[in-house]
Parts: sequence; structure tokens; C-alpha cells
Amino acid sequence: MTQDSKDEKKVVRGLEDVVAAETSVSYVDGVHGRLYYQGYDIHDIAEEMTFSEVVLLLWNGGLPTRAERDRFSSEIVADMRLPSQVVDMLKLTPPTSHPMAVLRTAVGMLAHFDPDVEDISPEANRRKARRLLAQIPTIIADLHRIRYGLPLLSPDPNYGVSSNFLYMLRGTPPTELERKAMRLLMVLLSDHGLNASTFTARVIASTLSDMHSALAGAIGSLKGPLHGGANERVMEMILNISDVDMVKEYIEGMLENRQRIMGFGHRVYRTEDPRATHLRRYSEMLCEANGQRSLYEISRRIEQTVMEAKGIYPNVDFYSATVQHAIGIPPEYYTAIFAASRAAGWIAHIMEQYANNRLMRPTSKYTGEIGLPFVPIDQR
Ligand SMILES: CC(C)(COP(=O)(O)OP(=O)(O)OC[C@H]1O[C@@H](n2cnc3c(N)ncnc32)[C@H](O)[C@@H]1OP(=O)(O)O)[C@@H](O)C(=O)NCCC(=O)NCCS
Repeated sequence: MTQDSKDEKKVVRGLEDVVAAETSVSYVDGVHGRLYYQGYDIHDIAEEMTFSEVVLLLWNGGLPTRAERDRFSSEIVADMRLPSQVVDMLKLTPPTSHPMAVLRTAVGMLAHFDPDVEDISPEANRRKARRLLAQIPTIIADLHRIRYGLPLLSPDPNYGVSSNFLYMLRGTPPTELERKAMRLLMVLLSDHGLNASTFTARVIASTLSDMHSALAGAIGSLKGPLHGGANERVMEMILNISDVDMVKEYIEGMLENRQRIMGFGHRVYRTEDPRATHLRRYSEMLCEANGQRSLYEISRRIEQTVMEAKGIYPNVDFYSATVQHAIGIPPEYYTAIFAASRAAGWIAHIMEQYANNRLMRPTSKYTGEIGLPFVPIDQR
């Protein structure tokens, strides 16, 4: 390659607006603030469909019947147990390890106990997909209970996937409102176009590596504060503020120091994130129900202050923080809950990638020197 052709390459920083894959799994319309799962508007399905129903929609591309959904939900619940070696590993991790770091290791470890791990045929992938979707919530619930010295719980066959997740984590039967909130959260977080972690999963699948590797990579990508890690920092900020009258000064201080307000802004949405609309409603209902309305009031005031100062809208992470706080999930698990939901979308994308694969291998613009004279080590 000549020096000239090397320099002509145009770098698209952050790959913004680069079209890297074709998908029918979900569509994010950033201009109008709309999100579609396999063609269905999130506003129509968010509060109507169960998580298992949405998983079938994402994986198969059509609305399942009640019988299909109920059978699938029972199959997942039946698959929620972990190999004992994985539970032992959870017990060995230091309490200072972030749950997302433990989840990444645990998903990698599950691969060693999955009889289909190296088989990437569609049939084997379906079996692995169902097991992974079932086992990820159990890893998170068990880790939490191990760290708090609580007994581990088995799934309750009377509950679906999202209610079981909440039940196994907290150990108390969720109320009707809490069940709906957990279901909504998992439905809303289950897919979102070609975001960073989904892209990571697709890149790994494009090498024809296995599903466990693709999910472990996606978990690592979601962990970052510019992606899934923002929700934990949102709750930290809200709890730090503690009084609605402190909001303006606190937020303006952050902006003066050029700090990012977590839970605001989005690469694609130019208007309100449609997921925030539903979560705001639930945040209010839940905070009201458990006597913590002030947390909702603080959130609303933050939203107003950021809008006035920067014209930036809240994203999915902002109200998901108070929703999770209100249903008793400790903040350090928020991103892991996100991962358990997003696993549905990652798997749909991985299967789509395998079905129509081309190795993902972009290029880079070389900015270093070329042709430097080599000096042997004893002459340097
Ligand atoms: C999500 C995010 C990374 C998208 O960023 P992006 O598309 O790369 O947008 P940019 O970083 O180019 O930001 C554009 C402008 O908005 C500002 N901005 C964007 N998000 C902001 C935020 N959360 N707080 C304060 N300012 C923000 C930037 O400072 C920049 O302003 P400037 O042009 O005056 O410097 C960004 O909005 C962010 O860091 N948000 C906080 C983290 C978060 O909530 N992540 C979860 C995403 S779902």
C-alpha cells in the first residue's frame, strides 16, 4: 500500500452511522423516539407481553400463542438450576468483585458443563440459548444470596421467568405491582438495535465461535459506564442528592465540572427514549407504594434541570434505577439485571449472525511510522 492510499482512509469515530449488519430483531427510530421488536411498537407490547413471550418474538419473529408461551416459560423455569461447580465458583469470588465481572466468568464457566457447547447448529443453539437465558438470572440471584449469607432458592414453578428471578434474588414473594415492574423492566431491556454489546456478540459469532463466548464478550461490553453500567451510578446520584431542593445546585455543579449526568443522552435518540416513558410511570407507582415518593420527586427534578441546562432527555437507565431500588434490588446488581434481560436480544442477534454470516473484519487507518531502520538489540 502506498503512503497516499493509507492517508485517504476516513475514520468514523465510534462507528457512528456505520451500517455493520442487517437485522429484523429490533429497530430504533431515534428521530421519532420509537422502538420496534420484530416490527411491533414497544408502546403496544411493553405492558402487555411477558418476558418469555418477548423472547419468543425476538427469536422466532412472530407472536407466540398462549400455549407456546406457557410451555416455553415452564421450560426456562425448569432449566434455571446451575451446575454445582458454578455455584462453588460464585462462593470463591471475592466480595469486592463486581457482579458483572462474576457473571462474565460464570457464563464462561457454564460453557464447560454444556453438552452442546461446540455445536453451533441451529438445533444445538436453540438448546443452549434456552439454558443460558435460564441460568443467567440464577447466577445473579445466587451470587447476591451467597454474599449476604442467605440460603439459595429454587425457582417456584408457579411463577414465570421474571417473577422467579425477583423471588430467587430477594427471597420474598413479589407483590402484583412488583411482578409487573420486573416483567416490564426485562421486556424493555431485552433488545435495542446494534448497540455496543450486541455488536460485540455479533463480532464474536461472526468468527463462528460459540454462543457462550459471544455472551461472555457481550457482558464485558455492557459492563462499561457508557453502556449498561450507567444505571448503578444513577441510583448513587439520586441517593447522594437526598433532597429535592438540592437537585439544581448538585446537577449544575456537575455540569460546570464537565461531568456527564448518568442516565441522560443517547447516541441514537434525539427525543425521549420510549422505554423511559414506561419506566417513569412505574417509578412513580412503586415509589408511592413503598413510601419513597421523594426518590421519584428527585428524579423528576433532575430530569427537569438537565433538560433546562442541556436539552438532553433521560435514557432507559435513568428511571430503571428507581424502579429497581423500589423492588428491592441492590444497585450493584442493576447492570447484571440488564444483562439477564439483554441476553434475549444478544442470542437473537447471534442466531441471526450465524444464519447469514460473514466474518466481521473492519480496517483501521494506520497513523504510525513505516520503514524504520531495524537496530539489533545489542546495538541499541
Ligand atoms: C450515551 C452517551 C455515551 C452517548 O453519547 P454520544 O452519542 O457519544 O454523544 P456525545 O458524547 O457526542 O455528546 C454530545 C453532547 O451532549 C453532551 N452530553 C451527552 N450526554 C450527556 C450527559 N449524560 N451529561 C451531560 N452532557 C451530555 C456532551 O457533553 C456533548 O456536549 P458538547 O457537544 O457540548 O461537548 C452519552 O450521552 C453519555 O455519556 N451518557 C451518560 C451515560 C449513560 O447514561 N449511558 C447509558 C446509555 S443508554
